[in-house]
Amino acid sequence: MTYDFTTRMNRKGTGSLKWQKYEDREILPMWVADMDFFSPPEVIDALRDRVDHGVFGYTVPTREAETETLAYLQRRHGLGVDAGELVWLPGLVQGLNLVCRASGKSGDGVMVNTPVYPPFLSAPVFSDRKRITSDLIEKNGRWTFDREGMERAVTPDTRLFILCNPHNPVGRVFSREELEWLLDFCERHDLWICSDEIHCDLIFEDVPHVPMLALGERAARRTIAFYSPSKTYNLPGLACAYAVIPNPELRNAFRKACRGVITEVNCFGYTGCAAAYRHGEPWRQEMLKVLRTNRDLIRETLATRHPKVTMPHMESTYLAWLDFRAYDFEHPAAHFEAHGLGLSNGMDFGAAKGFLRLNFGCPTQVLEEGLDRLGKALPGQ
Ligand SMILES: Cc1ncc(COP(=O)(O)O)c(C=O)c1O
Repeated sequence: MTYDFTTRMNRKGTGSLKWQKYEDREILPMWVADMDFFSPPEVIDALRDRVDHGVFGYTVPTREAETETLAYLQRRHGLGVDAGELVWLPGLVQGLNLVCRASGKSGDGVMVNTPVYPPFLSAPVFSDRKRITSDLIEKNGRWTFDREGMERAVTPDTRLFILCNPHNPVGRVFSREELEWLLDFCERHDLWICSDEIHCDLIFEDVPHVPMLALGERAARRTIAFYSPSKTYNLPGLACAYAVIPNPELRNAFRKACRGVITEVNCFGYTGCAAAYRHGEPWRQEMLKVLRTNRDLIRETLATRHPKVTMPHMESTYLAWLDFRAYDFEHPAAHFEAHGLGLSNGMDFGAAKGFLRLNFGCPTQVLEEGLDRLGKALPGQ
């Protein structure tokens, strides 16, 4: 192995959201979605060079960030994008809120599938839109759209559908057939599609990521696609993301929603993005091997030692969606915290009580410790 995916790093005192939460308690944090891995060395070197320059004034997108991003979209996802179609953002949570504000008007509907990453649920509400939800359904151990349920839930004043693909937290990479159906659905109801693809380079299986924009002109007309190097290369603290919006009408509406509230990405964000896209592929390949090992370890541990806990087949993300409903815990997240394990509460994702999300983006040895604590927290073990 060329890169370091085994060091147990000390993140205490670094202003880490993940570690600060349990600063004074002996709890292993396996919640918020960043990884306990060092970023690719080439990214660290590029940032060091940028620091050495010593001037940190206001920014515009660097030519390097733009060029590397367009090359990445073409190379990895077959998307031919012009620089003018990019809208840079300091983060996709802001993007989710902006897209709600850009679409329709106050009181209109925004549709999401549940369970889902919590800002999908709060963005419509913060934006004075009506949140319309439709649960994903589980078929043969895989979660998918409830097509009839979505037809029933959508309202005439719904203007936007927000898709998470690959999906956080259920780990699905939606197939071309599923996405074609979704595009038809959105066309039929005249909805914009916001396709959040932040996890698209974290896929373990031989399943292709199909970008919504790869579905052609019909999709391009109504899609705002979100990307960022932050999940894959572990750079969320650099606050650099972007939207790809081919339709000028949607792009103008989105830019209008940005006015006065969105700052430029900071200089380190552009530097990190360019370096990750340019040099990060060998690191990414090795990192995926570690994540695959970790996912398989969770699967085996559950199957052999804790069969009452289930996990769907995770095709993507480093976030395991665990179903503890068989144990009927009164306060599931607090129960595991009391046993030294910090997990995300599934109810924040719009799920039933008893689902928890475990972040396995960490050295395998740390995961082993987490699974040990998980086992000890289960009654009768
Ligand atoms: C689907 C999805 N979108 C957006 C984000 C957050 O993006 P950002 O850090 O750019 O705000 C996350 C973080 O976990 C996520 O899972």
